[in-house]
Amino acid sequence: MAGANDIRKTFLDFFAANGHERVPSAPLVPINDPTLMFTNAGMVPFKNLFTGAEKRDYVRAVSSQKCVRAGGKHNDLDNVGYTARHHTFFEMLGNFSFGDYFKENAIEFAWNLITKEYGINKDRLTVTVFHEDDEAFALWKKIAGLPDERIIRIATSDNFWSMGDTGPCGPCSEIFYDHGDHIWGGPPGSPEEDGDRFVEIWNLVFMQFEQLASGERINLPKPSIDTGMGLERIAAVMQGTHDNYEIDTFRRLIEASVEVTGAKETEKTRASHRVIADHLRACSFLIADGVLPSNEGRGYVLRRIMRRAMRHAHLLGAKDLVMYQLAPTLVSEMGQAYPELGRAQRLIEETLKLEEARFRQMLDKGLKLLEDELQELGTDKVLPGEVAFKLYDTYGFPLDLTQDHLRGQERTVDVDGFNAAMAEQKAKARAAWAGSGDAATEQVWFDIQEEKGATEFVGYSTEVAEGQVVALVKDGKRVDSAAAGEDVMVITNQTPFYGESGGQMGDTGTMAGEGVKLSVSDTLKMVGALHVHRAKVEEGTVKVGDALDLLVDGVRRNKLRANHSATHVLHEVLRRELGEHVTQKGSLVAPDRLRFDISHPKALTEDELASVEREVNRIVRENADVETRLLSYDDAIEAGAMALFGEKYGDEVRVVSMGFNETKDKPHYSVELCGGTHVRRLGDIALFTIIGESAVSAGVRRIEALTGAAAHEHLVHQQKLLKEAAAQLKAAPSDVPERIAALQADRKTLEKDLAEARKKAALGGGASGPAVKEVAGVKFIGQVLDGVQAKDLRGMADDAKKSLGSGVVAFIAANDGKAAILVGVTDDLTSKISAVDLVRVGAEALGGKGGGGRPDMAQAGGPDADKASDAIAAIEAAISAG
Ligand code: ALA
Repeated sequence: MAGANDIRKTFLDFFAANGHERVPSAPLVPINDPTLMFTNAGMVPFKNLFTGAEKRDYVRAVSSQKCVRAGGKHNDLDNVGYTARHHTFFEMLGNFSFGDYFKENAIEFAWNLITKEYGINKDRLTVTVFHEDDEAFALWKKIAGLPDERIIRIATSDNFWSMGDTGPCGPCSEIFYDHGDHIWGGPPGSPEEDGDRFVEIWNLVFMQFEQLASGERINLPKPSIDTGMGLERIAAVMQGTHDNYEIDTFRRLIEASVEVTGAKETEKTRASHRVIADHLRACSFLIADGVLPSNEGRGYVLRRIMRRAMRHAHLLGAKDLVMYQLAPTLVSEMGQAYPELGRAQRLIEETLKLEEARFRQMLDKGLKLLEDELQELGTDKVLPGEVAFKLYDTYGFPLDLTQDHLRGQERTVDVDGFNAAMAEQKAKARAAWAGSGDAATEQVWFDIQEEKGATEFVGYSTEVAEGQVVALVKDGKRVDSAAAGEDVMVITNQTPFYGESGGQMGDTGTMAGEGVKLSVSDTLKMVGALHVHRAKVEEGTVKVGDALDLLVDGVRRNKLRANHSATHVLHEVLRRELGEHVTQKGSLVAPDRLRFDISHPKALTEDELASVEREVNRIVRENADVETRLLSYDDAIEAGAMALFGEKYGDEVRVVSMGFNETKDKPHYSVELCGGTHVRRLGDIALFTIIGESAVSAGVRRIEALTGAAAHEHLVHQQKLLKEAAAQLKAAPSDVPERIAALQADRKTLEKDLAEARKKAALGGGASGPAVKEVAGVKFIGQVLDGVQAKDLRGMADDAKKSLGSGVVAFIAANDGKAAILVGVTDDLTSKISAVDLVRVGAEALGGKGGGGRPDMAQAGGPDADKASDAIAAIEAAISAG
């Protein structure tokens, strides 16, 4: 019997042998289409190849595409488990021609694969064509030799396939397998077509048109082919069953579910095991593609799927947590075809475990409440909306989970009542917020968030994505459009642009759509949920509803990543080098530098800085992976994550771990709670260098540093300076410090010599020394000294006093227009003449005031150096006046 893995392989090999490029499955989160919640068909990743907007170096492709249909338009969730063919997750096998072959080859390939490679009996096959498509009708006749009655013309939209409200589309032709008359049902187009007997296994779409948002349908540049075959369906046919859940992959998952829950497979438990098996696949693949449970957007759809499975596990009476224990079986079944599953196994297990543990805590209480309410209902079939809302709000029961629970009792929920209760709660939350002060400025963001939901951030894994404009804000008010030259705040349903938060600056980049271009100079995060792009319209007019290609400036973002990751490593290194008292007091992650403030009582020494820098670079060179996980707050703290004091965290936190560690209980060097964007491996930081250490306030030090190219540039510049200095000194760089020390010593000596020479010169040069006068019987030297420093006056006056033996000395040093005056009186005269009095007289003449000292030596200053001679004369006069 061919297993699902063999069937997939045969398909891929067949088309590869026929010139098709093997293209790996795209992620479940469609980054090229904001209108889709999840990739839901094989052609989604190729959308732009059909329309001609994108070219690749192949024109034929084959893939096995992961698809999820849950939430949004194609919502199969409620039926899953209760029917033979509904799934939240399935694989679509498809072959594609982008303007290469058309109908004839497509039909030929399909027929050969099914009847020859897969060996399916052609008598069991029936096909449909769009009612006007005579060409396809004739081709089926010619190629497959089918009789007219097994080529059924269908007039309805069943045979006209379109991707969605917009996008590539065209008539299609479907291949049906007849499981035989033991199963109820009729051929397509018949009144019994909904039965299980005739099952559609393959859809061949003859892509010819593109549906535009305006309603217009235009021709594609070239007719193309898109086909889709559900792997689970073809596997069922080939394994002799009409029930997808009986194929090998599902049997193994269901057997694992039986084993882990301990609940045998019976009529009563069947649906629950199927729900678990199906949902396990959807949840695991979504987690592997970066979706994590949350209360918004894709994360909420994931949470609903998870909780639905977990409720069924509970229904089966499972004692232990179930879902995470099934992950290894899934990885061994599908991990070879989808290696991302194995890579994410740990994340998948942890996420499932956390969600189930949390849900379990709520489940018993919630179910009890529900049972009590149902008792009260009596024969009434409709559960009031407020009860369903209470279950949602207090116990985390998504609405569909309550509906699923009531299904068995043929009861329903008053959905309008549920929505009304939800709206009322939002209004209350808003009223509470309005009291918080900055409500006025934030009102507009609040309105948008409430109306449109939080922006989904897809920028952890990509820097390019499409987003649909959900609101535009200009000067604080909402507008419908903005024209070229205008500045406008743009809010999209999803974005790869990081909104400034946690110290990391917002992204910049561009946005472009049909005839419109914008530049984004910053991205902010408003009311904790909206990513607001600060943009300028460069060309055309942007309107609410437009789909735009959002492109982050990747070079700048890489620098931000490196600086943010370096901050984490630096933080841990500082704690290890300086002590556990070090905590983060602030941080700025800019593209060109990083700044990190820590609590530490004193300046870091040069040795400490060198050692911190060396250690950060050592960790960088180890080049460990950077791992991101979502954990409960408590588990994160237990895992050793550093939480920031005073920071508010939700129930679930993003945990970023990096580097290796020796100890088992803490396998990573650094573990922090962080919402920022990081490098994939620490080696991406490349180089780290500290450029500054300073004080911010008492007990808080600031470290500034560079990474990567900026760090390298900085070091190159330093080296250049050193080389220049060496060239100036005509020395080798290594001799520079010694040479500078020698130069400084020389300079000191020279300065001293120079001062001596100046003093001598100022005092009149020659050996005779300064001129001595007799004033009222007192020997007096009064002189203006050019080029002498004020600090030298005292020594000179002492010398002069000594040479006089008895007398008065008055020196004035004039520098830069200002004068310093010093008067000395020998001890024998101080009882009659005070240096202090004389210096005051001199200072006054110099335009100054005061002066101080002792009777034998006093000093003062004055602003008018050109009055120096007058000052000497004034002092002389004062002596003679007695
Ligand atoms: N795109 C087509 C489908 O999803 C093949 O059915």
